[in-house]
Amino acid sequence: MKIYFDNAATTPLDTHVLEAMMPYFAEHFGNPSSVYSYGRDTRAAIEEARKTIAALINAQPGEIIFTSGGTEANNMAIKGAVIYLGVERIITSPIEHHCVEYTVDFCRDFLKVQVDLVNIDEQGNIDLDDLSLLLKSSDKKTLVTLMHANNEIGTLADIERIAAICKEHNVLFHSDTVQTFAHFELDVQKINVDFISGAAHKFHGPKGVGFLYMRKQNKVKSFIHGGGQERGFRAGTENVYGIVGLAEAAKIAYNNLETDRKKILELKYYFKSQLLKHFEGVEFNGNTDERSLYTVLNVSFPPNDNSMMLLFTLDLEGICVSGGSACSSGAGTGSHVIAALKKDADRIPIRFSFSKHNTKEEVDIVVEKLVKILNS
Ligand SMILES: Cc1ncc(COP(=O)(O)O)c(C=O)c1O
Repeated sequence: MKIYFDNAATTPLDTHVLEAMMPYFAEHFGNPSSVYSYGRDTRAAIEEARKTIAALINAQPGEIIFTSGGTEANNMAIKGAVIYLGVERIITSPIEHHCVEYTVDFCRDFLKVQVDLVNIDEQGNIDLDDLSLLLKSSDKKTLVTLMHANNEIGTLADIERIAAICKEHNVLFHSDTVQTFAHFELDVQKINVDFISGAAHKFHGPKGVGFLYMRKQNKVKSFIHGGGQERGFRAGTENVYGIVGLAEAAKIAYNNLETDRKKILELKYYFKSQLLKHFEGVEFNGNTDERSLYTVLNVSFPPNDNSMMLLFTLDLEGICVSGGSACSSGAGTGSHVIAALKKDADRIPIRFSFSKHNTKEEVDIVVEKLVKILNS
């Protein structure tokens, strides 16, 4: 029996989502750009999905662009803000996902943008005073890009407060919400954010599809050139079944937001209490209170002879977890997030991340295995 505690990496597809997608693989196969009925059917499905996503975040359908996932959405917002909106300076943090970090590096190296890093504390919380100081220090056209929840350690940023600071200084604000869209209510009017992103596979939807929200006053143009799809904002024949799956998965998640949150949070707290009970000196990376993603618990076990091999040994026991960032798990490279927290380098961080499908019994089995591996 396998236990899957790596839901921040990706989640299993919901069977209802698969059912909603199925007709669009064969029966409704038309190219959405075709004018005859086959095309009109698939076009209608895309526009319906756009309305669904827009309504969930209190945006207008015209502000939603479908993409191949979170990476593309974040690339589009950041590069687009530089190329099309005249951004000359980017403020970001040292713990962003690589798809933001490396895009910002690209803007610095090839588009000659000034980059400033905001200070964070030991749990990955943004120093808001430092952000204000950075914003005061220059009148260059600026984009602030700060993620809502960190995918490795789960620390949540107060994006409403960050957006307010950005608006005080009249700068653009992008937030990578890939780990939080469809896990938390996000109202783009209330938050006053200019760009957010989502990826279906983080909430039981299909892989390879996501979206970018961009506020109508600050729309960036396409950085993939070709046909006039997505009203000219993103060329290429649309991933129709993916888009249908994205909207269906989002609807299901929103219908169950509170019950799922409560269930997953209880599991996380139960797991944390069991770890504290069984492992002397265990520590947690990132916030673990209400300022954290309820799906993620990042644990540092005290170093011992067996902890170096922990990921590998857990895998042999059928337990799927992640060390460092999910997106590069298996790559064997250290985590830039854990490094930025300036934690004890001897400790091995393991990210456990949960979904509505996990159970207390699974937690008990994982704790039992951990005890066997680490305390023997
Ligand atoms: C915070 C965050 N941003 C962006 C991404 C990239 O999303 P995608 O895999 O859809 O490209 C991920 C994926 O792990 C993520 O966790």
